Amino acid sequence: MMRGLSGRWRRWLGLSVLASALGWLVWNEAPALHPVARAPRSSEDLVRTGLTLFEHVWTPSDPLAKGDGLGPVFNERSCVACHSQGGVGGGGEVSRNVTTFEVHPASGRTKVEEGVIHAFSLSSDCRESRVGLNDFFQVVPGGLKVVGSCFVEIRDFDPIRSESINPTALFGGGWVDQIPDKSIINHARLRSATALGEVIMANLNGVKAGRARVLADGRIGKFGWKGQFATLKEFVASACANEIGLGNPMMAQATPYAHHASMKVQPDLDDQQFRALVSYVDTIPRPIEEFPADPTLRAAADHGRALFEKIGCAICHAPSLGGVDGVYSDFLLYRLSDPKEIGGYSEVPTTPLPDDHPLPDEWKTPALWGVADSAPYFHDGGSPTLEAAINRHGGDAKTVTKAFEELSAEDRAAVVGFLKTLKAPRQAKPPTPRSSGYYAMAH
Ligand code: HEC
Ligand code: HEC
Repeated sequence: MMRGLSGRWRRWLGLSVLASALGWLVWNEAPALHPVARAPRSSEDLVRTGLTLFEHVWTPSDPLAKGDGLGPVFNERSCVACHSQGGVGGGGEVSRNVTTFEVHPASGRTKVEEGVIHAFSLSSDCRESRVGLNDFFQVVPGGLKVVGSCFVEIRDFDPIRSESINPTALFGGGWVDQIPDKSIINHARLRSATALGEVIMANLNGVKAGRARVLADGRIGKFGWKGQFATLKEFVASACANEIGLGNPMMAQATPYAHHASMKVQPDLDDQQFRALVSYVDTIPRPIEEFPADPTLRAAADHGRALFEKIGCAICHAPSLGGVDGVYSDFLLYRLSDPKEIGGYSEVPTTPLPDDHPLPDEWKTPALWGVADSAPYFHDGGSPTLEAAINRHGGDAKTVTKAFEELSAEDRAAVVGFLKTLKAPRQAKPPTPRSSGYYAMAH
């Protein structure tokens, strides 16, 4: 249909779609376009108690716990064990990755189950493993099936998918918590209109608009690599329960699949302790932009920032969103892998996932603030350097990656130089010597 339109008409149509979308947005949503985020605040006492809990090395029957303390299943003994790069609250190395799993719909099960395969357990009968999970979620056998008048070889279908997930830095989390759902939705709508305008104008190289992670209750997910939590408080509750086995007022401690029903105990953290931990995480300072003192390097970093906008990185890594300047994320989901590049194997699951559930290769644009101090990169920590991370952007980001590759070596270095100005906050507390070494556990 589009082929019949002349170039001028296409441009006109594209521009009018864009203009009406913009007009609608300004008319309908104006107050939400200018939210103001303020530095999160809490009482000093509460934050200090929270920091103590964040650094505390938990033991079974811990004196600080109201329940059974560490475990029964856990990944580490303290929060800081995984969140320490660039200071307390930072990201973690690959050795701190967590194994998560998803069970896709199969054999009459329509719900997606999600969980963590814990690295440690207090007793051997609570031990979890990827293989052991198949006792609960069985492989659907394939084989030769008759389809129409042919025999078709159907592969076995294992409904379980596991992923190795790298710990993110928590700096500035309290600011992200304040970004209104409306800002993310408006941004996504504007992006969809722009992308549609581009298609109508026959520019097929534009970046496809991402989609917001809409949770079961309709809220927008902002936290986690897949945007699986709407608020910082909920993520903290889940981290306590899953990483350390600390039951709390919002979530019971994680229990191994084999013992689901039989492990009801008192929550480990009481209301006051949980509130303190959330207050600490909420007020961890935000990352900073620190330009090099050397004038030549500084000019290169400034130039790199301009290129970052020009070649399209800023389309997804939006420099400002919902009143939070310097966050560099749109909090939308994208697919950065090209199915053809993974040896012809398609990543699309065999059974349909519920519409709002992210596809296996769909990930949320991570905030780039503090990125200089949070290597390695990507959800799995599989990219050791910033350059490697940029080169790994295929799929929805393909045209932008191509534009990056076509830059001169000097310009590419400038983009990376700009990313290196995005640092962990200088006030971040260095991990106490007591905790480093002692908390490190063999994996
Ligand atoms: C074994 C390592 C490990 C431990 C221990 C750990 N975390 Fe994490 N943390 C992670 C990983 C991995 C992620 C990324 C998870 C994801 O996105 O699915 C993460 C993400 C988070 C996030 C979300 C940040 C964001 O912006 O999306 C918060 C908040 C958090 N952790 C808080 C805590 C707190 C509080 C504790 C202690 C109770 C803790 N974590 C203990 C590994 C750990
Ligand atoms: C289509 C949207 C999109 C575009 C365009 C894009 N990115 Fe990304 N970026 C993402 C997503 C999504 C991820 C996370 C992917 C994952 O973890 O699997 C990411 C990850 C990153 C990371 C790793 C961050 C971390 O904490 O691990 C860096 C660095 C980065 N991008 C820089 C860039 C630069 C520089 C450009 C431009 C050359 C760019 N991106 C263009 C969506 C985009």
